[in-house]
Order: sequence, then C-alpha cells, then structure tokens
Amino acid sequence: MMKTSVRASRMEPSATLAVVNKAKALKYEGKPVISFGAGEPDFDSPAAAASCAESAIKEGKTHYTQSNGILELREAVASYYSDRFGLDYPADQVIIGPGAKPLIYGSLASLVDPEDEVLVFSPAWVSYVEQIRLLDGRASIVDTVTTGNVPLASKVAEAVTPRTVGMLINTPNNPTGAVYGEETLREIAEIALEHDLWIINDEIYERLVYGNSTHLNIATLVPEVADRTIQINGVSKAFAMTGWRIGYALAPKWLSPKIGAIQGHLTSNACTIAQWASLGALKGAEEDVVRMRDEFARRRAIITDLLKEMPLVSFSEPQGAFYVFLNVAGALGGLFNGKKLEDDATFCEALLETEYVAAVPGTAFLAPGHIRLSYANSEAEIREGMARLKRFLGSIEV
Ligand SMILES: Cc1ncc(COP(=O)(O)O)c(C=O)c1O
Repeated sequence: MMKTSVRASRMEPSATLAVVNKAKALKYEGKPVISFGAGEPDFDSPAAAASCAESAIKEGKTHYTQSNGILELREAVASYYSDRFGLDYPADQVIIGPGAKPLIYGSLASLVDPEDEVLVFSPAWVSYVEQIRLLDGRASIVDTVTTGNVPLASKVAEAVTPRTVGMLINTPNNPTGAVYGEETLREIAEIALEHDLWIINDEIYERLVYGNSTHLNIATLVPEVADRTIQINGVSKAFAMTGWRIGYALAPKWLSPKIGAIQGHLTSNACTIAQWASLGALKGAEEDVVRMRDEFARRRAIITDLLKEMPLVSFSEPQGAFYVFLNVAGALGGLFNGKKLEDDATFCEALLETEYVAAVPGTAFLAPGHIRLSYANSEAEIREGMARLKRFLGSIEV
C-alpha cells in the first residue's frame, strides 16, 4: 500500500466543516435543520462587488494578475489602513491572497522553522494550530477561558521559552466574540518587544464590534511593534464575501517579499475577478457593511437574551464577530434519552440528531466543554433554534 506523508497523516480535518457537512446531509434528507455552525454571514454580497465582477468579466479582466494582486486593490487596502488605523503601508507591502486563511499560512511559512514555538491563545480558531503543525512548528497554547477570554500578560510571559518566535492574536475573536482592550494589547505588545517576537494580527472581524466596544489595532496603539506585525484582514466577514476568497496581508518591508514569493509559488494570484469585486466592495459598499453590522448587533441581543434564560449553560457576553461561545459543562455527564452526554462532541451530536440544531463543539477551538453558536441566521431561525436548544437542555437529566 502507498503511504501518505507524516505531515498529512497527523492533520485533523476541520471540525467546523464536519458539523456543517452533517447538517447539510440531514437537510438533504428533508429534516428541518437550523444551523448555528457556519462561520459566515448569511447576507448577499454587496451589489457594488457583484457589478464590478460583472464588468471585469465583460472587459476581459480574466487573466493572471501580479502575484501580490492588482495595484488598484493593494492601493485601496493601503488607504483603508491609513484612514482607519493611521498605519501607512506602501502598496508593495500589501499582499492580496485567496482568503485570509492562506495568507496566515504564508506568513507562518515565512516565519516558522521546525520546532519553533508560536503562542496561540485558546479558545482559538481551528486552523492556526493545524497550520503551525503543517510547518513542523509547535503551538504553545495559552488558555484564556479562565481569564474572561482575554490573555493574561503573566500567563503569556510564562509560556515564552527560548524557542518562542511569535504569536497569533485574533480580536474580535472567533469563537468567543471577545474584543481585546487597550491594556491587554499594550501588555501583549510589551511581551513581543521584550522577547523579540513577531505578531500575526488576525483582525478579520474588525468591522463587527457591538455595544461600547471598539476594535483597536495593536500597531496603532504601540507603533514600536509595527515592524514586527503582520496585519491579516479581508472582505470575507465584513462584506459577506466568503465565497469570493479574497484576503489581505500587510507586512513589514523585510517580510512582505517572502509572503509574496510563497503565494506566487502556491497560487500565482487570487482570482482576478474576485479582486475587482473586492475593490468595488472597498470603494462602494461601506453602507452595506454598516447595515450588516447593525443587523448582527440586533441578532446578538436576541440570542444572548434567549440564552440567559437557559438552564445548565453560561457564557461571556460576546463583544464582536458573530458567535456566542457557550459553556455547556453543566450539562455534560448528564443523561439525554438514556444516553450519557460525555463531552461537547456528543452534546452537539445529540442536539443535531434530535432537535436538528447544528453547533460546533468547543474542542475544535481547544476549549472542551463549550459549543460555538454562530448567529449569522435570520431572527426567526434564531428564535426557533433557541427554543429547541432550551427544550434539549430541559430534558437532560443531570
Ligand atoms: C479568525 C479567522 N481568521 C481567518 C478566517 C479566514 O478567512 P477567509 O475566509 O478570508 O480565508 C476566518 C474564517 O472563518 C476566521 O474565523
């Protein structure tokens, strides 16, 4: 028998996609599935994006572009960063890629050697750890569950070893919805400076913050870290453009050619039509971004109000993104239909199979005993889904 590589065999498939796939299969069988699993807005992509894509096709803009992306889009991203964060990047330090995900990989691949350690704050997005592993690096996990979903400086500093080369931060956070405040970011920046670490700043959810929270960029706050920080962003979440696959990285001068070179060998360039669509979005869809954000804010209020009424579960109020990270530890070990709910995975399985409600197990985010609910659903679905969850919780014998 042929063998697969060690690298491939030790990789875990995406648990988020596993839930989405199972929910889709049940839906296909005609079951009334409500999915809180997907990590994407349910809105249509902005009209400005669609019309620019159409024009690109009609005008024959359907060939390779520069591997780092069309200059027009790189310039638009650079001016967005300058206007929004007061950070000035020349267009040649902006790399447009096929989604934020491959740009995080390209950044890591430019920075991580085998056995190098990268700090990851858990709960964390699934792909960080797998990408670090793909590079034979090691993720040093710093738990934030016990510290309100934000990293505590003393714990972060404790996790640094001579092999630590950098850290990944993600605010607003997937899966917790936490938004890091000024003090946290200053402390993290200080640790990076003291130990000579780079920072990958994944701020893909930066436009989605609610209530009194504000999103802050670590390099705006502490300009000394700008030269060791890679900004990761894109159109996927804020513009409801997940399927167009366009992300951007803004990197220091010493690093951007490396990320660009890796991308050049892997993908040549991100889809040309989608690049033009993203330019259309950045230039003409600001109103859509605000409208969608406001709608998420409304849904956040609805889902959190409903969750507060439920037995056996608890959560920290999410401040950003579109997720609630629910602690279900109080239900685990309990009996449902005579079957023991061993862990968050069996909890999600029983919830999906009996109430047709899909959620992602917290284990997928390195946080067992939790489930992630995405509220990128209609109000009617949120209300019905939460009624089912409540019924489910009510019938667990603890
Ligand atoms: C924290 C985080 N970073 C990056 C991404 C990837 O974004 P993209 O779809 O642009 O690759 C996601 C998508 O779920 C995410 O949640």
